[in-house]
Amino acid sequence: MWKLTKVAAVAAALAAAVAAHAGEVEVLHYWTSGGEAKSAAELKKMMQAKGHTWRDFAVAGGGGDSAMTVLKSRVISGNPPSAAQVKGPAIQEWASEGVLGNMDALAKSEKWDEALPKVVADVMKYKGNYVAAPVNVHRVNWIWASSDALKKAGVAAMPKTWDEFFAAADKLKAAGLIPVAHGGQNWQDFTTFESVVLGVGGPKFYQDALVKLDDKALTSDTMKKSLETFRRIKTYTDPGAPGRDWNLATAMLIQGKAGFQLMGDWAKGEFIAAGKAPGKDFMCAAAPGTANAFTFNVDSFILFKLKDAAAQKAQSDLASAIMSPGFQEVFNLNKGSIPVRAGQSMDKFDDCAKASAKDFADTAKSGGLVPSVAHGMAIAPATEGAIKDAVSQFWNDDKVSVADAMKKIATAAKTK
Ligand code: GAL
Repeated sequence: MWKLTKVAAVAAALAAAVAAHAGEVEVLHYWTSGGEAKSAAELKKMMQAKGHTWRDFAVAGGGGDSAMTVLKSRVISGNPPSAAQVKGPAIQEWASEGVLGNMDALAKSEKWDEALPKVVADVMKYKGNYVAAPVNVHRVNWIWASSDALKKAGVAAMPKTWDEFFAAADKLKAAGLIPVAHGGQNWQDFTTFESVVLGVGGPKFYQDALVKLDDKALTSDTMKKSLETFRRIKTYTDPGAPGRDWNLATAMLIQGKAGFQLMGDWAKGEFIAAGKAPGKDFMCAAAPGTANAFTFNVDSFILFKLKDAAAQKAQSDLASAIMSPGFQEVFNLNKGSIPVRAGQSMDKFDDCAKASAKDFADTAKSGGLVPSVAHGMAIAPATEGAIKDAVSQFWNDDKVSVADAMKKIATAAKTK
């Protein structure tokens, strides 16, 4: 009996210790599709295991445009969440407003500088101080395929070039299938567009045109060819594409109704959540012409300045959980991405993820590693928005000529 009392006393003391530090984390994110929600749930579980309360601030909408609008209004009203899913140059913009906390003490004690590739660590810092924590590396330049659809259409292999892609698309069409599953937001159009630019022009051209926004590159013959290829892809999409969410486009592959989808590897999270296996039910390959390149998209959470001590502790525990090898593994197994920590084991990951990890390392050396513009990794948000609109206008309106689109994109690139 005395033993039980002792155990109970220890448990009570432990609970009190947890309670003394227990706080609430309110986390803004836009992970609401099947695979995304499963991934976000892992973070929630970890925070609850540490005794904290998780307040879910999910704003639906792939790519996060709606989430960013909601976040702005919350911060302007002086009531920021603990953390928000923000990435790339937008991290710097938020930090320059003076609303983010300094996570250096935690980063130092957990050796984040050693754990992260420098290109990633630099993006997480503002004026040398950590203000954000990264969760993963998504690769954007993928093409996904439904094995059933390819089989029905007699397509034997994943297309390596755009010519092979169009030949396969013709076969899918002839078999009565939808060759390309596409959705209806400007970030989906641009996800396809940047893979086309990368495949047609290569990494150096991609950098010049879409990252450096060099006028000469933007109005070059290579850009003309990219736009022509991009427009040709549209002829293989179905009339239901406008307005469709990206995960519903992935569902068309899962159901065997469509052949291909050009999408980042969060699409793999959808296949996995639906119980499908890579290499069997669905296929992954680098987008045509992009085998030696890698468009990276690093999801991360910015951490806001908080006043309450318990909330600060919960926030620090959140950042620590995000960076832990255990979380990086389980989260990314669900999300379709790969861990961002250097030297993390890939044993439990599938072949698509293993290929991604290898290509991430190889392209970092070869110069083929480039930031995704579609996913907010490369240029200032205002410029990105303007270019995306110009590209989507071209995609949506067949009356806009290639020459006009080039002019519009070049003008949009000057938006500050
Ligand atoms: C990306 C984001 C991914 C995924 C996708 C669709 O921008 O980095 O994590 O959620 O949008 O929402």
